[in-house]
Amino acid sequence: MRSRKKPWAENEVATNEKVISEPEKLKGKWREYFGNENPIHMEIGSGKGRFIVETATRNRNINYISVERQKHVIVMGMRAARELDISLGFIIGDVEDLQDYFDEGEIKRIYINFCDPWQNRKKWHKRRLTHKNFLEMYKKLMNNHGEIFFKTDNTELFEFSLNQLSENGFRLSNITLDLHNSDYEGNVMTEYEEKFSKSGMPIYRCEAAYGNQKMTTVYENMNRYWEYVIKQDAKGLKESFTDDASIKWHDTNEKFTVDEFVRGNCEYPGKWHGEIESLEQYENRVITVVRVWADEMSFRVTSFFKMENGLIKELDEYWSEEGEAPEWRRSMNIGTQIKQTLATCQN
Ligand SMILES: C[S@@+](CC[C@H](N)C(=O)[O-])C[C@H]1O[C@@H](n2cnc3c(N)ncnc32)[C@H](O)[C@@H]1O
Repeated sequence: MRSRKKPWAENEVATNEKVISEPEKLKGKWREYFGNENPIHMEIGSGKGRFIVETATRNRNINYISVERQKHVIVMGMRAARELDISLGFIIGDVEDLQDYFDEGEIKRIYINFCDPWQNRKKWHKRRLTHKNFLEMYKKLMNNHGEIFFKTDNTELFEFSLNQLSENGFRLSNITLDLHNSDYEGNVMTEYEEKFSKSGMPIYRCEAAYGNQKMTTVYENMNRYWEYVIKQDAKGLKESFTDDASIKWHDTNEKFTVDEFVRGNCEYPGKWHGEIESLEQYENRVITVVRVWADEMSFRVTSFFKMENGLIKELDEYWSEEGEAPEWRRSMNIGTQIKQTLATCQN
C-alpha cells in the first residue's frame, strides 16, 4: 500500500497509548497487558486499520492486535482508535517477527485481509502471508488450536491460499466466491475491499480452523459436555472446565468452584435425561437451553458459557422447573400452548 509520508505520524506513534512500542517485552504476558482473560484476535497487514478498529468496536469482549509494517499507513487507524474505548493494540512490525512477540497459544484468531498477492514471479510466493511457512508459524502462535479468516479479491491468490491451508491441516469452511452477494452476515469492509468491490470485483472469503476437532467444534463440545452432566460423569465434567472456572446458579444465589460443581452435579440422586433444545454461539460465548428430567421432575436450564481454548471458563445458569401457567394467567384466557402436553392430547 503506497502512502504519502505524514509529518504528524511520528508524533502520533510516540503519543498514542494504543501503540505497543516493545512487543517483545510482552511475550507470554499479553493477558496482563490487556488486563483480562478474553481471547486475542490479530489482524496482520492491517493497512489503514479500518477493519480492525470497526471489528474491535463491535466486539468489546475480545482483545485485538493490529500488525502492520508501514507506520505511515496504520497511523490512520491508530488515530481513529485513539479516543475509542476498545481493546486494541497496534504493533508496527513485520509478520515475520511475530514469534518474538507471542508465546505459543497466545493468539486465537488471525485475520488476513487483502494481503499482497506477489503474483508476478513464482519465487515471490514465499512472501504471501498464506504461504505454508507463515501457516506453520501461525499454528505455533495459536498453539495448534485456532482459526484464520481470509479475504481477497485475487483469484490466483485465493486458489493458492485454499490449497496451502488444506495441505497444511486447516479445515476450510464458509468459503464464498462472492462475499457481498452471499448470506454471510456482519462483514466488516476493509479499505481495499471497498475499492475493489466498487470497481465490480467479487470478494473471496474463507475460514480455516486448525486443531483438535473436539476443542474447536462448539456443537460437539456442548453435546459432550451435556452428556457428562446427564450421565453424571465426574471426570468428563472436570475436564470440560479451566482449573479456575467459576460456575454461578443465579436462581439460588450460589457460586461454585469446578470441584464443588462436579460434586453437586454427580452426587445428585436419580437417573437423569436431557436434550439440547437450542444452542447459540458468538465468538467465545455459547448459550444453550437444555431440558433435563428425571422421574417426575423436569427442568429447563439456560446456560451462558464463556469459553477459553475450548474449555469452560465461566458458566452462568438459570434453572426453572417446568409446570403449568399459574391460575391468575389461566383465568385471563390468553395465549396458547407452545407444545401440546399429555393433558391436552388426552382432552
Ligand atoms: C494490500 S494492503 C491491504 C491492507 C488492508 N488489509 C486492507 O484490506 O485494506 C496489504 C498491507 O499489508 C502490509 N504487509 C504486507 N506484508 C507485511 C508483513 N510481512 N508484515 C506486516 N505488514 C505487511 C502492507 O504494508 C500493506 O499495508
